[in-house]
Amino acid sequence: AKYTICLIEGDGIGHEVIPAARRVLEATGLDLEFVEAHAGYEYFLEHGESVPEATIEKVMATDATLFGAATSPSKKVEGFKGAIRYMRRRLDLFANVRPAKSHPVPGSYENVDLILVRENTEGLYVEQERRYGDTAIADAVITKRASQRIGEYALKLAQRREKKKLAVIHKANVLPVTQGLFLNTIMDEAKNYPDVQSYDVIVDAAAMHLVRNPASFDVLVATNLFGDILSDLTAGLVGGLGIAPSGNIGLEHAVFESVHGSAPDIAGQGVANPTATVLSAAMLLDHLGEHDMARKLENAVDQVLLEGPRTRDLGGTAGTQEFTDALIRCIK
Ligand code: NAI
Ligand code: MG
Repeated sequence: AKYTICLIEGDGIGHEVIPAARRVLEATGLDLEFVEAHAGYEYFLEHGESVPEATIEKVMATDATLFGAATSPSKKVEGFKGAIRYMRRRLDLFANVRPAKSHPVPGSYENVDLILVRENTEGLYVEQERRYGDTAIADAVITKRASQRIGEYALKLAQRREKKKLAVIHKANVLPVTQGLFLNTIMDEAKNYPDVQSYDVIVDAAAMHLVRNPASFDVLVATNLFGDILSDLTAGLVGGLGIAPSGNIGLEHAVFESVHGSAPDIAGQGVANPTATVLSAAMLLDHLGEHDMARKLENAVDQVLLEGPRTRDLGGTAGTQEFTDALIRCIK
């Protein structure tokens, strides 16, 4: 095959949206070979680890990976590591790229076309927490190296786009040491990109501006936790979690996944919206250099979202299967 793609269903609706996305990828007619691998909470409960080494090896051996969703329990479970967070750190997938583009669905703002770039390996997500009696402490790690490379990634991305703007999101006014290092490192890096208009926005103000005037944004870069929160917000601007794709991108490997989680409230019912995973597959094709086919998938998604059938989360009645069938007819 021309490309090998690793598929990881993960947990919950991952078992529904990955097979749907696979059918769509097969319908493209590209010469693809699929390799299946396991990860997630369900796998942990059975085997005592959330990401087996065999999965890491398959991700490394294939050209790109498509991931469904993973459950993370909100209580501490001995020995458990969040599957996707572990893979991001282990495979050094330092850039979490989350585009938000207007879609023809109820509640989507118009003229939104932004990309949030989230630092994916450090910040508060180093998962270093401890408790002293009634006090709990979490570490937030910011390094110059990780800030510089995420800044460089976001600047290069902005440079390739029409507006060429970069908003550096931070809270350096309250956390001048950690957030200040992130902000200043990226602003220094930005001096090498005079064609990109780089500016800083304090995170809380950014949340307000994103809701009031999302069309004014182009590329945004943020530390891990802020990027996680703001990217659910930007997903909400253009149709919600059922639609929002993402890529976890490193120098060597890349794992594409929906922004949403395992949706235990609807898992197993055949009603999950596969759009987020299909658009993640389009990002995967872009990553492989198959830009025409990536656009074709995106256009098919927007055509079906416009004409229906739509899934329940977007006010329709279609199940995963019916929606996927419509997408495939559109591609063919
Ligand atoms: P969630 O994203 O799984 O679900 C939030 C709401 O959106 C639910 O009502 C769900 O039914 C709906 N929803 C999500 N995706 C949908 C889709 N494709 N089609 C239709 N409706 C959809 O977030 P929640 O419920 O807070 O978390 C569930 C589990 O997922 C948790 O264990 C959490 O840790 C995990 N999670 C994992 C993520 C990941 O894999 N990257 C991201 C977010 C949460
Ligand atoms: Mg999130």
